[in-house]
Amino acid sequence: MDATPTPDHGAADAAAAAHLKELTLGHLYSAALRTAAELRIADRLADGPRTAADLARDAGADASALRRLLRYLASREVFREDDAGAFHLTPAAQPLRTDVPGSLHPAVMMFTDELFLRSSAGLGDTVRTGKPAFPAAFGAPFFEYLATDAAARETFDTGMAAFSGPGDAAVAAAYPFPAHGTVVDVGGGRGGLLREVLLRHPGLTGVLFDQEPALREPLVDTPGTAGRWRTQPGDFLASVPDGGDYYLVKHVLPDWDDDNAVRILASCRRAMAPGGRVLVVDAVPPRGNAPHPGKAVDVMMMAALGGKGRDPQELDALFARAGLRRTRILPTDGFVSVVEAVAS
Ligand SMILES: C[S@@+](CC[C@H](N)C(=O)[O-])C[C@H]1O[C@@H](n2cnc3c(N)ncnc32)[C@H](O)[C@@H]1O
Repeated sequence: MDATPTPDHGAADAAAAAHLKELTLGHLYSAALRTAAELRIADRLADGPRTAADLARDAGADASALRRLLRYLASREVFREDDAGAFHLTPAAQPLRTDVPGSLHPAVMMFTDELFLRSSAGLGDTVRTGKPAFPAAFGAPFFEYLATDAAARETFDTGMAAFSGPGDAAVAAAYPFPAHGTVVDVGGGRGGLLREVLLRHPGLTGVLFDQEPALREPLVDTPGTAGRWRTQPGDFLASVPDGGDYYLVKHVLPDWDDDNAVRILASCRRAMAPGGRVLVVDAVPPRGNAPHPGKAVDVMMMAALGGKGRDPQELDALFARAGLRRTRILPTDGFVSVVEAVAS
């Protein structure tokens, strides 16, 4: 009788199965981070290590449940538990503090908000139809919905500023802005990038352009920029402020499908002064399967907004339709690049 060989899957398959199981429960990392952020655990550890029981008393939590939550996060280097059962901050836990420069606390609260969770829950529909899941969950497209919900708008604006702000100084440093001219920050949100550009270049003036509610409390409002900027509300799908020399388009195009992305670029093309430039600032994920933060953002944009991340060739196709052509791509010290385009 033939002995049918039993495939010896062995350790490699066990590791693969463990990997898949961990990915399957991956949403729990997100939920655990949100809980730690809500309870301000990182702030409570700023002065030194503390036990879960001690933290729980302050935070109004159940001691045993909190210990299990923190042990889980510590398994991915967010917090560390010592032999005496005290939890410590780690490099990955530091940006969860609310009181540090570069705090990611608002970004954690944004990306774990129901705005994005309910969009992710509809990912299957998005992949089947190619359409964003957000409108079915919230009754309107993303930015139209934000106009009706002030709390969600605030969560989004502060979260975006925290998420994208840490790279702004690197963008301002990477691009050779001239001594004089006007920079328009298109869909600039709270204006962190415009602030960094104006602070670095005292001869430049700027316009922060976005939907009205995003323009409250702009970050560009700081002593070093006084008298050199203004805000202008409007709809970039229709037009953007005229006469600028540089149009910054940062983390905007991935929110939109190709036709609308072309409308935004064409608005810039029509408005720009002779010799003007469009600077698209985004993560440009490399080809291939290496992990890159832009790949997760791409899927999130697909589910929430119907947008997409684009590689240089895909951007070129949009530029061509908008009457622009790419001139160069400048990497920055952050995870974004600056893609420069001029009139074609
Ligand atoms: C993902 S955020 C990027 C914000 C900022 N540029 C940054 O890097 O943090 C996209 C911005 O586009 C703005 N926006 C969306 N639709 C718009 C429209 N039709 N006209 C003008 N701005 C719009 C949003 O209000 C939001 O501030």
